[in-house]
Amino acid sequence: MTQLSPLYEGKAKIIYATADPEILLAEFKDEATAFNAQKRGAIQNKGVMNCAIASHLFRYLAAQGIPNHFIAQVAPNQMHIRRVEIIPLEVVVRNRAAGSLCRQTGLPLGLELNPPLVEFYLKNDALGDPLLTGDRLRLLQIATDEEVAQITQMALAVNTHLSRFFAECGITLVDFKLEFGRSQRGEILLADEISPDSCRLWNQEETDPEKRILDKDRFRQDLGAIEEAYALVMQRVLAHSIP
Ligand code: TMP
Ligand code: ASP
Repeated sequence: MTQLSPLYEGKAKIIYATADPEILLAEFKDEATAFNAQKRGAIQNKGVMNCAIASHLFRYLAAQGIPNHFIAQVAPNQMHIRRVEIIPLEVVVRNRAAGSLCRQTGLPLGLELNPPLVEFYLKNDALGDPLLTGDRLRLLQIATDEEVAQITQMALAVNTHLSRFFAECGITLVDFKLEFGRSQRGEILLADEISPDSCRLWNQEETDPEKRILDKDRFRQDLGAIEEAYALVMQRVLAHSIP
């Protein structure tokens, strides 16, 4: 399919139009940012690794009945996706305390959260992606109450499936961020990507709190061996069959 002009360039992906108005092309970049792009760098081969990981996870979630925007992987760092209107929310699910939850509450790193937490952040870098309350979510009219309920339910279902998937790969899914969109038909679809950029993943074979980190925290915290961590996630994810 012919690729047209870029529609949008984000921090980790470029989105192109295609000849089919319902289908977009997402190209995954090696560039990496953290802390709302205050820290910038590149992770060698990240585009290819994240595209492969996300493609596999989207296929797996579709097989589990989670509707998502993925159509097909069309190149090592490119996938065709269904065109959606992105809902400007970052939906974070947490199974263990880490990151901003520890910083903001003082909870100890790794504390098990049962039931898992579902949090909504406003997707707006200029405002620093603030955490929203239920009332603020309603005030901003970003999504209807029904959509918020549906997104919460989908996020928890994604968590159930992905936690099991990663456990079978010897990896603990600590937390992750999802984005959702509305399709032309008004259906809510899981969108964006699921990768070591958007998840916290701990290697169950390591007890050392730094060595076990297999995600973008290696970049955020300058821990080194970032490419190796992403490659290990890719290898284990791709080796996990899709039912
Ligand atoms: P946090 O602990 O920094 O709030 O992050 C929670 C999860 O969301 C973690 O897996 C990293 C992911 N995340 C993103 O994908 N994009 C973001 O902009 C942020 C802040 C977090
Ligand atoms: N994705 C965000 C950024 O690029 C933050 C993060 O992942 O830490 O700045």
